[in-house]
Amino acid sequence: MAATSELRKKVDLATRSLVLTNDQLEKVSALLLKELNEGLRRETNPIASIKMYPTYVRDVPDGSEKGKFMALDLGGTNFRVLVIDIDGDDFRMENEIFAIPQSIMTGTGEQLFDHIAECMANFMEKHNLKEYKLPLGFTFSFPCRQEGLTKARLVSWTKGFSCSGVEGEDVVTLLRKAVKKRGDIEIDVMAVVNDTTGTLMSCAHKNRECRMGVIIGTGFNSCYMEELDNVELYDDDTPGPNKVIVNTEWGAFGDNGVLDFVRTDWDDEVNTYSLNKGRQLFEKMISGMYMGELVRSVAAHLTRQGLMFGGKGSDELFTPHMFKSAYVSAIESDPKGVYTNTKASLDEINLQHATLEDYENLKLICNRISTRAAHLCSASLATVLNRLKRPHTTIGIDGSVYKYHPNFNVLMEQKVGELTNPEYKYTLMLSEDGSGRGAALVAAVAVRQQEELKKRARAKKNSVISMNDDVVQATQ
Ligand code: GLC
Repeated sequence: MAATSELRKKVDLATRSLVLTNDQLEKVSALLLKELNEGLRRETNPIASIKMYPTYVRDVPDGSEKGKFMALDLGGTNFRVLVIDIDGDDFRMENEIFAIPQSIMTGTGEQLFDHIAECMANFMEKHNLKEYKLPLGFTFSFPCRQEGLTKARLVSWTKGFSCSGVEGEDVVTLLRKAVKKRGDIEIDVMAVVNDTTGTLMSCAHKNRECRMGVIIGTGFNSCYMEELDNVELYDDDTPGPNKVIVNTEWGAFGDNGVLDFVRTDWDDEVNTYSLNKGRQLFEKMISGMYMGELVRSVAAHLTRQGLMFGGKGSDELFTPHMFKSAYVSAIESDPKGVYTNTKASLDEINLQHATLEDYENLKLICNRISTRAAHLCSASLATVLNRLKRPHTTIGIDGSVYKYHPNFNVLMEQKVGELTNPEYKYTLMLSEDGSGRGAALVAAVAVRQQEELKKRARAKKNSVISMNDDVVQATQ
């Protein structure tokens, strides 16, 4: 028994660097604020690691949106096509999920967009929509420089994608091209949005205090409503509200080295084996794409040191990406003294020889990695709350980590509270399918605004005609 607790102590000690104090988290928050400001300023933006991309979304839904819309959602491991009926607060929605094979995620852009168009055509066929040209919202969840509501140039791929020939291109043009090539369906793209924007919009539809959207899923990112005056890169002078949603792309925080004081050798290892080495370093400490890999990296290291699995690992334990992030949630869901999920996960990676003590130690590692992630997320949310200085802000949150990890949201509720000025109250609101509904809502707002503009133009034309009539009459 004494030997048992010795091992435990060693594992505890060896993973202490994963536990962040509030002092460290406050430093993270102060650095993040500095970087957010640099991203917003025209002068510093080119060298800033957080790019703060302005979207062209200036207002949240007002409840009068109505109609049938299509939405596409590309950003994780799956691609979704949706058809949504919006009638004020009511939604009716049908959707289908299509897998994106690994070969397409890392193939050519043409293959990717052809695949998307094919999935859409199949969906439209199945739902008898082929002869319609419905307004469409496209959720494309990667860093894009927007040049309008329907024009977004991909800056760089993140997460598991690396399709050639897309970076620098407008993804709406690529989508339209692929659809046109098929010739069997028609689309009417009204908006392209990031999933964080979709999340904000979908929550704001229900809760008018919502000013921020966050995704903690395959990736980690946020957007929030910023005063137009502070967004120096926004150069659209169309009249409208004096605010705009900014897509922070804060997953890139730390790419310039400022987070090295909290990063560990395991973070370095995860980065080394990733598709986009040297980029998205903050995201790699937090999101679902990397959480399992972090745990694997720690466990493999401790096994090599003889502290776990009797010093004997398995091929899977020593192979990058073999420990799924879903295992982390499963393992942490095992109640105290029960190891059903832990054992099942270890069986999958061929570690049947694990002892009870290994189970406990693995659970400790999972807990340290996920708690660190939740605390870093909290520090980021607190940064924005402290910047907005609003008496109350609702934050819409979506993503598999937030939704399925057993205590992520509890950890966040508590830590955001500790790191935010108590004058600024907040509510963390689970978003209901921001990527799908949100995109349809942005499209719906765009359609509404387009109709208002047309109406105004018609009224102006009529008044010119009647003025001309008056002139004609007066001269007769
Ligand atoms: C990555 C993408 C970002 C997206 C996030 C969540 O960070 O770069 O655009 O919002 O993942 O899906």
